[in-house]
Amino acid sequence: MHPAATSDGSAAEGDGDTLESVSYHRDSNHKHMFSGVAIKITLMLVVLGTTLLILNQSNYPIMFFRNLNSNANLFSFPQYMPPIPPPTSLVKSPRPKDENIELEKTLRSAVMKDNRTVIITNLNAAWTEPNSVFDLFVESFKIGNGTAHLLDHLVVYAFDKTAYERCKAAAHLHCYAVTTEGVDFSGEAYFMSEDYLKMTWRKIELLRTVLELGYDFIYTDADVMWFRNPFKKFYTDGDIEMSCDHYIANYNDVSNTANTGLTYVKSNNRTIELYKYWYNAREYFPGKHDQDVLNMIKGNLLVHQIGLEFRFLDTAYFGGFCEPNKDLDEVITMHANCCIGIQNKMHDLTMIIHDWKRYMDLPSSNRNSTTTSWTVPRICH
Ligand SMILES: *[C@@H]1O[C@H](CO)[C@@H](O)[C@H](O)[C@H]1NC(C)=O
Ligand SMILES: *[C@@H]1O[C@H](CO)[C@@H](O)[C@H](O)[C@H]1NC(C)=O
Ligand SMILES: *[C@@H]1O[C@H](CO)[C@@H](O)[C@H](O)[C@H]1NC(C)=O
Ligand SMILES: *[C@@H]1O[C@H](CO)[C@@H](O)[C@H](O)[C@H]1NC(C)=O
Repeated sequence: MHPAATSDGSAAEGDGDTLESVSYHRDSNHKHMFSGVAIKITLMLVVLGTTLLILNQSNYPIMFFRNLNSNANLFSFPQYMPPIPPPTSLVKSPRPKDENIELEKTLRSAVMKDNRTVIITNLNAAWTEPNSVFDLFVESFKIGNGTAHLLDHLVVYAFDKTAYERCKAAAHLHCYAVTTEGVDFSGEAYFMSEDYLKMTWRKIELLRTVLELGYDFIYTDADVMWFRNPFKKFYTDGDIEMSCDHYIANYNDVSNTANTGLTYVKSNNRTIELYKYWYNAREYFPGKHDQDVLNMIKGNLLVHQIGLEFRFLDTAYFGGFCEPNKDLDEVITMHANCCIGIQNKMHDLTMIIHDWKRYMDLPSSNRNSTTTSWTVPRICH
């Protein structure tokens, strides 16, 4: 048999090799069968061989499936997706109760009174240096059109001590110190490093808790600049709305490539189930971050069974460097997506802030097609 490229073929071949080598030893023993002792020894060897053979065979299917499961590449094709256990049977509340009490205290002080919504962002030390991404983020609210008051509702998940202190130093922000056992997030968590992944999954866990506590939220990465009130363009129906790297289809079509950098989620049983499911699905996609995993499960039958409705936000309003908004008159947010590394993000986000200021400073009668578009992306693309 030719070695086949599939794990199916090679497993079958491995099985054949084992059979051959066992029967060869048995034959060679037959040639030296001269005494009763030899017969007894041979019989023992035959029994031992047969036992080994049976053990071997019964082991194979297990090993085969284990290998298959660890092959993450297979799962980029939805048709190979294994049934992920129903989300209800999964996570208990893995965190101590007092963590929820502390979080709820923060949420209560930040919430928009009319609609029980909070805005949440993630922060670690590397993003809080003076003149850093976080400064630009906060500035965008201040220079945005009708966004300054939203800062009062911003909860910062501070992933280390420095981030927490910087958050506290900024007026009006609501700071929550995130604890994660055995991880120091104070350096730049390089994109897709182990710490980066731990941070993103801890975030997903904490966002689920927010939903369980009954709060709606808008999660925003700190490299999303806010220039107008997003509620103006959010859909009123649906359970979860997210920005896109590429908005390629209808607002409710899961084939849009979601970018979780801006996500508006209403607290209900469906979204709680989704966040449990999403968090647990990480084990089926080792080494993938939250966004990749969401893109892989969003069309899954189980998500459909939960009855959850996705909404995808048009990049014309919620743009990014992957697909910039075309018209500043329409811009709600601008995300430094499709851009890796703090220095690159800083460079182009600084230009974004500059573009916006220039745009806002012009009387509307003086605006033209040049002044109503971005000068970015420059370094990011
Ligand atoms: C929720 O409240 C905030 C702050 O008062 C407001 O800006 C926003 O438009 C409200 N959203 C909805 C959907 O009413
Ligand atoms: C800013 O908001 C006000 C009030 O909603 C609106 O009249 C004005 O046109 C907006 N300006 C820009 C530049 O969008
Ligand atoms: C979930 O469903 C139960 C039972 O229908 C209901 O009592 C509860 O309020 C729901 N929780 C949320 C967050 O909607
Ligand atoms: C657009 O407006 C800016 C500022 O008002 C002006 O400097 C520029 O020449 C104008 N461009 C065009 C193509 O009209």
